Amino acid sequence: MPSTSIESRQNWKTDSPSNAIVPVLLGDVQTGKMVRLPSGDMEFDRVLGGGIVPGSLILIGGQPGIGKSTLLLQVAMKLRGKIVYVSGEENEEQIRHRADRLGPINSDCYLLTETNTQRLFQHVQNIQPQLLIIDSIQTIASPHLDAMPGSISQVRECTAELQRFAKETNTPVVIIGHITKDGSIAGPKLLEHIVDTVLQFEGDRQHAYRILRTLKNRFGSTDELGIYEMQGGGLREVSNPSELLLSHREDLLSGSCVSATLEGMRPILIETQALVSSAIFGTPQRSSTGFDTKRLHMLLAVLEKRCGIFFGQKDVFLNMAGGIKVTDPAVDLSIVSALISSLHDVPVSHDVCFAGEVGLNGEVRTVSRIEQRIQEADRLGFQHIFLSKNNLKGIKLDRYSIVIHPISRITELAESLFA
Ligand code: TYD
Ligand code: MG
Repeated sequence: MPSTSIESRQNWKTDSPSNAIVPVLLGDVQTGKMVRLPSGDMEFDRVLGGGIVPGSLILIGGQPGIGKSTLLLQVAMKLRGKIVYVSGEENEEQIRHRADRLGPINSDCYLLTETNTQRLFQHVQNIQPQLLIIDSIQTIASPHLDAMPGSISQVRECTAELQRFAKETNTPVVIIGHITKDGSIAGPKLLEHIVDTVLQFEGDRQHAYRILRTLKNRFGSTDELGIYEMQGGGLREVSNPSELLLSHREDLLSGSCVSATLEGMRPILIETQALVSSAIFGTPQRSSTGFDTKRLHMLLAVLEKRCGIFFGQKDVFLNMAGGIKVTDPAVDLSIVSALISSLHDVPVSHDVCFAGEVGLNGEVRTVSRIEQRIQEADRLGFQHIFLSKNNLKGIKLDRYSIVIHPISRITELAESLFA
């Protein structure tokens, strides 16, 4: 036995190669020009890298109720050409009601409530649409498996079938997948390697803003970001997020500072709010919304140790206005400033903004793409921006009318703003 198997393993030495698939030189591979299909929704096209690639499989994940069905029905109403919208979650009448809220009905949009993949493909094949939308992957099932719809094996099988269908017919397919509360995409997470593009639709259901993020994209960059506002008539594209996010600031109050952050490639100015008050109970509370609480603890520790500013028995609350979740480290400087401002009850002027990461030694560190941040702040009429001294290299200061305040330690910030 072992000897024959070793022999057969050595076959490649003697057999001549089959000529079905042969290696080709990379430089000899012919490429056709990739023609993308515009979806009619600028933000959606942007996150996809400039439109929908024919034959691609796109997964869009998000928590239930965040607006996935609304977003894709909206795309179905705007896209030029035939569309099939498969829904296993709502009946035709419910979808029609929703579509009526969104604007004019697209006369080329077909609804299909079939959940059996094979029968679904037959219908889609007959219609030959420009785009197929599946709402959601957890509700369809392949007849080749006994498992329940929504089970791991069904979700995986259906996605694999959709992938083959997309590639064979060159029809782009968008799949909706729900994420469970704990954040793992209940299915979609295990699909990331099968699909071409993974988008995540996120936001706080209590707020109107929604962010569409690219987590993976075989046909474009993952730095793009789409921003929407949920309104009575569907999702509105937000092309100027900073203006919207800052529009609620009227009175000059302590504890409020603006950070020049970057979400993906887009500069966004966000208001960071801090409230420092005397603790009523023994243990002071530290809580934050839209920002990592552990990092807030770290910033408080840095302020105590490096600046001698003590928060010991104070409650500290932190909030990123607008329900936006910020992970950009450049927001640190604005938070530190908001904390000091609230503690001393000294407001920071409305025309000041910040962009800098704070290190454990109290140093202000450089952040990426500083010029984009300065430009956006300048465009919005800010007069002063505080940033790291090391960020200045190669920047032409006279290009901007905003005054740039380079600092290297947060103690300098405390001196210039709160002295
Ligand atoms: P939906 O698209 O059904 O979420 P998902 O498919 O991700 O589960 O969106 C549901 C929420 O959106 C629902 O709470 C109602 C709200 N909504 C609006 O505010 N305006 C609208 O025009 C529409 C259609 C929905
Ligand atoms: Mg839905």
